[in-house]
Amino acid sequence: MIPWKEIDRAIVPGQKGVVTLLKRDMEFSIRTAETELMNSRVHGSEDALAQLACSRLKQQSGLKILIGGLGMGYTLAEALEQSRSDTHITVSELIPAVVRWNREYLGHLAQMPLNDSRVSVKEEDVAKTIMQKESAWDAILLDVDNGPAGLTRQANDSLYNISGLKTFFLALRSGGIMAVWSSAIDEAFTRRLKKCGFKVEIKTVRARKPGKGSRHTIWLASRP
Ligand SMILES: C[S@@+](CC[C@H](N)C(=O)[O-])C[C@H]1O[C@@H](n2cnc3c(N)ncnc32)[C@H](O)[C@@H]1O
Repeated sequence: MIPWKEIDRAIVPGQKGVVTLLKRDMEFSIRTAETELMNSRVHGSEDALAQLACSRLKQQSGLKILIGGLGMGYTLAEALEQSRSDTHITVSELIPAVVRWNREYLGHLAQMPLNDSRVSVKEEDVAKTIMQKESAWDAILLDVDNGPAGLTRQANDSLYNISGLKTFFLALRSGGIMAVWSSAIDEAFTRRLKKCGFKVEIKTVRARKPGKGSRHTIWLASRP
């Protein structure tokens, strides 16, 4: 088997850990010390995150979508595919090196989504982005950990507690939707979403298309 080769590494802001970008033949992997955050060969459920959320939006002019976590750009590419020419998509990415990796090494994987004029990138914590303005977003697509618990870094825990979820709720426009990716179901998270006023739908999607690979969970939480 071809061995993995490290291309680059970067510090995770706000914590001691590092993330590494690895390559093996045509395959790429982004990893923390403990686990793989994203692999270029498997992105069915990352695509589904965007498909499911965008399909629930009223197709009107000037929609604003926020994506938390660029990764390898698959969710972004799918959101662009599903969106009109006057939709604007903001991506908040915590690790500046991940944005650079997309420009230097990974862009071709998802047809260079960062080059689309509908996209702007903020190199910051998505928690900071959502605090900047209330009722700002028609959709928020969140895929920053492997589920509703801090994995990229411990501080992400605060995105998924009651206080974090209330901030997401307020950041959405009325009728807006938040979609959250997870490798597994988490009943306590569903209860917290409901407690914060979201109307919740849960979908099981497959890691590989069509209908193949592990089962992942996507919460579709709307602000009534
Ligand atoms: C699993 S990957 C996202 C995969 C992405 N959906 C795709 O299609 O490739 C998670 C990403 O979220 C970023 N991230 C982690 N915590 C974050 C935070 N608090 N704010 C913004 N981005 C964050 C990571 O650096 C990483 O790029």
